[in-house]
Amino acid sequence: MTDDRKHQRGTDCIAAVQRSFAASLVAALGIGVSVAWPARAVASQALAQKYACIACHQPTAKVVGPSWKDIGTRYGEGKGTAAQLAASIKAGSSGKWGAMPMAAQAQVPDADVQSLAQWLLDGAK
Ligand code: HEC
Repeated sequence: MTDDRKHQRGTDCIAAVQRSFAASLVAALGIGVSVAWPARAVASQALAQKYACIACHQPTAKVVGPSWKDIGTRYGEGKGTAAQLAASIKAGSSGKWGAMPMAAQAQVPDADVQSLAQWLLDGAK
């Protein structure tokens, strides 16, 4: 009987350790996700710099091209798709925002075009 009770306590202890391990795992995953987002945004900002998009596009002000914010507002939240924006970046665009056309950004590799398009859809944050 005494042995049984000891055994019982032992099992409880293991269960408690497992529970706290599970809790810290969930916490670690949560932190992982929240760190991953800004990292991706910084990467996309770096791409916009690398490919000189920022010569014509600014975060909130229209310069030569529309601001990132205006692009996000027009196409974000399901109003447009990343594929649509990627096509505009790759092939160029005209007549959608004003008199000034955007030349095809053919020098940008497809994977980076996709990242930029998704980043813009998400509001360039
Ligand atoms: C020489 C100036 C210039 C450069 C460099 C430039 N853009 Fe543009 N961009 C424009 C102009 C002007 C427009 C508006 C075109 C229009 O009215 O359809 C535009 C429009 C866009 C649009 C909206 C297209 C649409 O379908 O409405 C996206 C997205 C975009 N640019 C992304 C980029 C990205 C990403 C880069 C860098 C790889 C880039 N642009 C580089 C001038 C530029």
